[in-house]
Amino acid sequence: MKITFAASECVPFSKTGGLADVVGALPQALATLGHEVTVFLPKYKQTKLAAPKTVIPSITIPFDDQYRFASVLNGGTQNGVRFYFIDHPQFFERDALYGTPAGDYPDNAERFALYSRAVLEASKILGVPDVFHCHDWQSALIPILLRTIYAEDPAFRGVPVVFTIHNMGYQGLFPPDTLPLLGLPWDLFTMDKLEFFGKVNFLKGALVSSDFITTVSKKYSQEIQTSEYGFGLEGVLRARAATVTGILNGVDYNEWSPEVDTFVKAKYSPANLAGKQLCKQDLLTEFGCTEPNSKLPVIGIVSRFAAQKGFDLIAQIMDRLAREEMIICALGSGDKEYQDMFTRMHTQFPNKILIKVAYDNAIAHKIEAGSDMFLMPSKYEPCGLNQIYSLKYGTVPVVRATGGLDDTIENWDAKTQKGTGFKFSEYSGEALLKTIQSALTAFKDQAGWQQLMRNGMGKDFSWGASAKEYIRVFERVKQARSAAA
Ligand code: ADP
Ligand code: GLC
Repeated sequence: MKITFAASECVPFSKTGGLADVVGALPQALATLGHEVTVFLPKYKQTKLAAPKTVIPSITIPFDDQYRFASVLNGGTQNGVRFYFIDHPQFFERDALYGTPAGDYPDNAERFALYSRAVLEASKILGVPDVFHCHDWQSALIPILLRTIYAEDPAFRGVPVVFTIHNMGYQGLFPPDTLPLLGLPWDLFTMDKLEFFGKVNFLKGALVSSDFITTVSKKYSQEIQTSEYGFGLEGVLRARAATVTGILNGVDYNEWSPEVDTFVKAKYSPANLAGKQLCKQDLLTEFGCTEPNSKLPVIGIVSRFAAQKGFDLIAQIMDRLAREEMIICALGSGDKEYQDMFTRMHTQFPNKILIKVAYDNAIAHKIEAGSDMFLMPSKYEPCGLNQIYSLKYGTVPVVRATGGLDDTIENWDAKTQKGTGFKFSEYSGEALLKTIQSALTAFKDQAGWQQLMRNGMGKDFSWGASAKEYIRVFERVKQARSAAA
């Protein structure tokens, strides 16, 4: 089957979060199953290409008052997957992908509309797939365009779109006059289409116009059909419940495993854990700890600093947590509010709360390897990858039981010696503190702890099974479209 991915980020070309990991790994897994996979990405300033060749010098994208021109670069083939880049320097040659800590770029609607239209136009020249697989609001215009102004295009007759929601919290909300700006018809501005509380909602448009909707864990696929997690789109999803499913993300163990990791001080495996202690010492030195007592448990955090991740709970319990025998090593970047919060905590507890405000892949790996526990008290979590990486590194996850965190982590039971981590449900500082305290108590029984680590290290969350589930969805929508044509 020919599958074309459209997404706004992908390892190793561009990344702000887990979407990039997924778009980097899933196409490879599909290619391994024998499918022909093409990935279209924006060419950002941070995208480094070895020898890019222009394959399409100019695609005309009409906006209300001007034409814009994008070119398409051939990024070559990696691990059996073909990459193309949409190049429009005025839109994408910027310091960040979507905006700065102060807010989103004001022209994001135009930026990702240009990208989405260029993907369709380029596909007509480079090859129309059997199915488009689009991800998050940045590529949401693809299904919308296909069912509106491209509906009569013979090139795309019978081509279905599968849309994957990685995060309901980011919908692509823009003022109404975005429609004429992008050359889209006003009749899209109704409650059953893109209109959402007086705004244009790109994600909603994708949810009503895609052939099938997936999200990145079973639990999240149910949660987003409730008002607590649906961000106002729960009704839209419930109306489509028969074509919504959750497929758990896999992870790439060539990148994220202590047995092969090139960023960490020492490699280790379940059979020989000695290297982990060296990684821990290295981590504490890296974070400038002046009293590096490596007997104390280290709790790692690697995260986008965003409300989603539950940092308000950590703030609530900070004073009491700091009295416990532990060290926190946190790496993150994003909202200024949370950057400031962590910096304040560090000033207050300089040898207990160690913090780096940065985006740094090497340090992310060092935290996975060097920590004893990994903290993700997320308010919501569509899948979450870091807790899955943590399992492989023998770094025990302490998580809130939501979305993919609930689907991937099993509570530790000291009696049966079963389980892989520590979970709590209620979104409160008290529940978080109690759960961290249980983990700290469990850490004191080193024999039990080693079993807990090994339980996690033995889990397999590689992509194979989930890639096959995607193929089943692709085949199903392809058949349904050809039957309807
Ligand atoms: P999300 O996509 O919501 O941010 P995930 O757990 O799915 O959450 O994925 C986050 C990914 O981004 C992981 O690969 C993680 O290592 C990486 N990451 C997040 N913050 C940072 C950071 N500050 N520096 C380096 N990597 C980061
Ligand atoms: C999103 C979610 C995260 C998920 C990632 C990849 O950014 O917040 O939970 O793991 O996408 O699907």
